[in-house]
Amino acid sequence: MISSSKVRQQFIDFFKSKEHHFVRSSPVFPIDDPTLLFTNAGMNQFKPIFLDQEKPKYNRVANSQKCIRASGKHNDLEEVGVDNYHHTFFEMLGNWSFGNYYKNESIKWAWELLTEVWKLDKSKLWVSIYKDDDETGEIWKQITDVDPNRILKFDKKENFWEMGETGPCGPCTEIHYYTGNDPQNQDSKGVNVLPEYREIWNLVFIQYNRKLDQSLENLPATHVDTGMGLERITAIINGYESNYDTDLFQPIIKAVEKISGKSIQFEDGIPHRVIADHLRMISFSIADGIMPGNEGRGYVVRRILRRALKFGRSLGLNNPFLHLLVDGLVEQMKDAFPEIYEKQSHVKKVILAEEKSFNRTLDKGLEIFENICNTLDGNIISGEDAFKLYDTYGFPLDLTELLAREKDLSVDISLFNKCMEQQRTRAREAGKFGVKVNENQWVQIEGLNKSNFIGYSENSSVSRIIKYRINKNESEIVLNNTPFYSESGGQVGDKGKIYNNDFSFNVLNTQKLGDDIIHYGRFINGKLLDDFTVTAEIDLSLRQSTEHNHTATHLLHKALKTNLGDHVNQAGSLVSPEKLRFDLTHYEQISKNDLMMIEKDVNSIILQNIKLNILETSFDSARKDGAEALFGEKYGDLVRVVDVPGYSKELCGGTHVSRTGDIGLFKIISESSLASGIRRIEAVTGKNAIDRVVINEQILDEISSVLNTSNDKVIIHIGDLKNKIKFLEKELNRINKKNQVELISDLMRNAIEINENKLIFSMVENISDLKEFGIQVLDKCVKKTAILLGLKLNNKPLVFCGVTPDLIGKIHAGNIVRELGSRMGGGGGGKPNLATAGGKDLNLLDDTLEFGKNKLIELLK
Ligand code: ALA
Repeated sequence: MISSSKVRQQFIDFFKSKEHHFVRSSPVFPIDDPTLLFTNAGMNQFKPIFLDQEKPKYNRVANSQKCIRASGKHNDLEEVGVDNYHHTFFEMLGNWSFGNYYKNESIKWAWELLTEVWKLDKSKLWVSIYKDDDETGEIWKQITDVDPNRILKFDKKENFWEMGETGPCGPCTEIHYYTGNDPQNQDSKGVNVLPEYREIWNLVFIQYNRKLDQSLENLPATHVDTGMGLERITAIINGYESNYDTDLFQPIIKAVEKISGKSIQFEDGIPHRVIADHLRMISFSIADGIMPGNEGRGYVVRRILRRALKFGRSLGLNNPFLHLLVDGLVEQMKDAFPEIYEKQSHVKKVILAEEKSFNRTLDKGLEIFENICNTLDGNIISGEDAFKLYDTYGFPLDLTELLAREKDLSVDISLFNKCMEQQRTRAREAGKFGVKVNENQWVQIEGLNKSNFIGYSENSSVSRIIKYRINKNESEIVLNNTPFYSESGGQVGDKGKIYNNDFSFNVLNTQKLGDDIIHYGRFINGKLLDDFTVTAEIDLSLRQSTEHNHTATHLLHKALKTNLGDHVNQAGSLVSPEKLRFDLTHYEQISKNDLMMIEKDVNSIILQNIKLNILETSFDSARKDGAEALFGEKYGDLVRVVDVPGYSKELCGGTHVSRTGDIGLFKIISESSLASGIRRIEAVTGKNAIDRVVINEQILDEISSVLNTSNDKVIIHIGDLKNKIKFLEKELNRINKKNQVELISDLMRNAIEINENKLIFSMVENISDLKEFGIQVLDKCVKKTAILLGLKLNNKPLVFCGVTPDLIGKIHAGNIVRELGSRMGGGGGGKPNLATAGGKDLNLLDDTLEFGKNKLIELLK
């Protein structure tokens, strides 16, 4: 057997020998591409290079990229587990040429690796090409020894690859491998149709950009983008029929067999495969910083996690089990992807929390299911209800069907499917979030197309405009050099001014797009003529406040880890001039005491006035030195390390203070829950923190002055007041009780006699609970008595009606008060012998009581 690690390494070594540079896999979700929810191909991280927005550092690269296909254009979810070769998470081995080699080399090397290094049987290999791409067919014939009869032409669907609705694309050639049992009877008709003809490698010749209006735009250069699933190729090299037979899945499947006691034969092994597949998707997503939730990526992760749990239930795994499988996965993958090892305990905790909450959700779902059944008109559960159970309570449809059958009910599946379809459409729409439609064309002044950030050391510069674009709202300017920091790593973009003798431009925000640093803003004076030399000046005071907050964010991150534990990870952050916001993975409210300790730690580092040490170094050496890499960041080979010596060390591209003392003061202003397992802390620094302390001091002064005491005695004073109030309340209660006893005697003495019967009728005061008081009166009455009481409480009218048991046939107290309640603009009800009602309008109480009294007199006669 040849291991998957070896296959991965052989692929990388092969392309290294062809002068390719190895790049690390980017996270499972693209950081700066709003058109994609998840990384769906190795080429995603190179999209800006293909679109000519960024110059490549190396023009030949290779890697193994973590990919997820569970939403959007490339979505294999339904196939997963049912067949042997589709996955939600997989590794894509790839090699790329950025404007360097093209069809010849990529085809030659692909063939060489497959047939000479891995020695795949040529008589089982097939090649497909795009129907209009004869050139590629010719190359295959000329530079490889593939049987020409095995080169087949296909249409766009098979042989024109696109990453999404928009973006880089082009014709492709694919290599397929026959995995069936009857090699003598291979047939070209099986390729792209039958599962035994397995597509193994896709070589895409990127030459277009698909635009929003669906037109194709020629790219300035041609590129190569290839992709081969590690799972599939490992299976094929080993002669396995299924990807799940490889060492990437076997340890997990064995663990599932062990904890469930159900062998892979059970239900054709589908639950085992689904769980093994989903575990990888979920774990790598969480390790890269996605938290299961109700939106976007988090929603997809939660759905996949629940899908795994559901299949777990079919194996009898009703208690949390998924988190137990993480260790095995980490063992298998940690060498290739160290992040999964570093985040191991975090991944386990998040999965466990989700498992517990899903079990609660299922219980809740069962309750809702019972409610639906109890109020059912007929014997069909509506599609909407089934969908609500599915969507809100994570109740799989087959579970709803199963439960329905037990009650001789059925489910309207077609309406359920319609709701599903509607939701998919909504999700598709949501996938197209935030793509900016540009209004006008750029005006290019200079051929230069890379702007240089010089703002680590400069606050202003004399620069040249490379290009600009005037828009209706905010216009855009790109400079050759700029001191303006573009929004990144949570730090907001700089504001400031760009000007010369002709105009002044107010910069409201700065953002980076590829290699361009774009200044967004408005012309406030004059206009841009033919002088393209400008002064660019950042708003220094805003920048400094931002720097206070940014360095404080690093200190906070460290203090959180020290005080709460290593599971704390940054899940998001915002650094602006006004405040800093830090989202962290943590499973419960952070106590007041912990917050105080954290604040104290940060302030102690500020007081030590430590000089920051900021340097550039290689990613690997920075990591070796213990620098913290953050979730969801894409790091190049060269990284910037922000070191607060002796305290914190993080990879960070942001701007910082030079000594911690510059921050002045750090004050936490709030702590709250953001999502399950994520807390949010907001804090202020510098002048904002001082202002906050001053305001708090003033409030304290005012309290002391109202209490007529000094600040240090306020707490004692408030304690005294609380004790006094408690004592007075008790006293008042005692007096009221005494008064009530007298009141009841008075009411009974003054009862009206009507024939044999008595009517107690009165407005009462100083009663806090009319019903309780009414019952006390009723208890004292021996026979044939009706009671009607009125009370004004908290500006609302209330009535009580009660009758002794011997009058129940004559008078129904509940009916009486219902009528009285509605007369007062409210409602009420109760039992035949005692009932209460309330109203809205105090002024109606007297008349209503009078009405009630007359009614009772009538009934008692
Ligand atoms: N980007 C190409 C694919 O994903 C290689 O198939």
